[in-house]
Amino acid sequence: GSGKGAAMVTAVAYRLAKQHIERQQILDSLRLDRDQLRCVMRKMEAEMQRGLARDTHATASVRMLPTYVRSTPDGTEWGDFLALDLGGTNFRVLLVRVRSGKRRNVEMHNKIYTIPQEITQGTGEELFDHIVHCIADFLEYMGMKGAALPLGFTFSFPCHQNSLDQGILLNWTKGFKATGCEGEDVVALLKDAIHRMEVCDFDLDVVAVVNDTVGTMMTCGYEDPRCEVGLIVGTGTNACYMEEMRNLELVEGDEGRMCVNMEWGAFGDDGALDDFCTPFDRAVDESSTNPGKQRFEKMISGMYLGEIVRNVLLDFTAKGLLFRGKLSERLKTRGIFETKFLSQIESDRLALRQVRSILQHLGLTSSTCDDSILVKEVCSVVARRAAQLCGAGLAAVVERIRQNRGLQNLSVTVGVDGTLYKLHPHFSAIMRETLRDLAPQCDVTLLQSEDGSGKGAALITAVACRMRGSRK
Ligand code: GLC
Repeated sequence: GSGKGAAMVTAVAYRLAKQHIERQQILDSLRLDRDQLRCVMRKMEAEMQRGLARDTHATASVRMLPTYVRSTPDGTEWGDFLALDLGGTNFRVLLVRVRSGKRRNVEMHNKIYTIPQEITQGTGEELFDHIVHCIADFLEYMGMKGAALPLGFTFSFPCHQNSLDQGILLNWTKGFKATGCEGEDVVALLKDAIHRMEVCDFDLDVVAVVNDTVGTMMTCGYEDPRCEVGLIVGTGTNACYMEEMRNLELVEGDEGRMCVNMEWGAFGDDGALDDFCTPFDRAVDESSTNPGKQRFEKMISGMYLGEIVRNVLLDFTAKGLLFRGKLSERLKTRGIFETKFLSQIESDRLALRQVRSILQHLGLTSSTCDDSILVKEVCSVVARRAAQLCGAGLAAVVERIRQNRGLQNLSVTVGVDGTLYKLHPHFSAIMRETLRDLAPQCDVTLLQSEDGSGKGAALITAVACRMRGSRK
């Protein structure tokens, strides 16, 4: 009778309500409130200080590496330079023409080379031989084989530097693990590879080794002199900024400023973020090439966000809360969720039916409309947390600059680059919102850089050459 029917409806409604709560509980573990973000900011501030101080530097998770870049560009840079850019998914070789004066401009020619995954995971010799081959190809292609132009090498991994033209790789990040490179000077590795060539018809005059954050800051600094911070949110994440020399205890001298490559991706490697880490973060960390390392980066950057999402979806499905509880082989495959899907799924103009077609494209065919809504919500929660964490880190940086200068209010520009930041529809807005909340005394302009890292390396090389000239 109708009584029985009503009871069944109640049972279904009850089950649905319970599932809804279950889903929300899981999503809640990925949500951060204000106090938590404030706590992240404070911990970052403390780690920055530990990284800068002589006694604590060795054990600090945020390494705060001196870069020997002492000023932002002033517009008088001039000349032709080569630049190399290694650190993301591609390798680029660039010819950069920098012109100063009234017709101040920067002209660039570049060629992109892929680095096959086998090479990032093979021997260091294979990696650097490949790089040198690409350079030779580029010089040939540009018809400038004999030219020995000064070169800036954007090498976006943590490097210990004692001078601008040297960089000792501390450890690989972002999935690279070529052997025999850690502990070595990458300039020497490059030169060795040139000398290994059969017909060795060129040499390189490496003037500067530059992190991508530093290159980005310099590029934006060329347009906007208030730019004193560089930020990357791409395959990996990291920041740099101008620190007072007197606070850089690892470098002689107290006058002026020097750019510090924070290597903030390693924040949390001492357990500082454990309270906020979810089982999904731990799963992503454990299946990476560097477990236990780059914990902050693994919660923020493009190489990992898709994997976090996939792990959440796996959990939902296993609990019968998604895809009718059917675990497909596709969903079990590492890396299916590229960051660009995350950006696409969250695009506001996208109708749910398009979300569904993206899922179908990923081989997740058995999805319903509710599934699409849920997948979109997972993507949004994971990206929001990433943008907030990034904002909390940046708040620590700009607050530190403000306090260094004893200012009531600081107005500063941050040069930003990276595919996740550029392509994600909400990342920058959420980051801005977090910054405003956590660092209200800082007025921060986020300036997107075009081709930041290569151009920046050339600008740094130009400044160094000018100084070299004036020393002669
Ligand atoms: C990784 C690297 C760092 C780089 C960042 C962004 O965190 O260790 O050097 O700046 O990725 O590419």
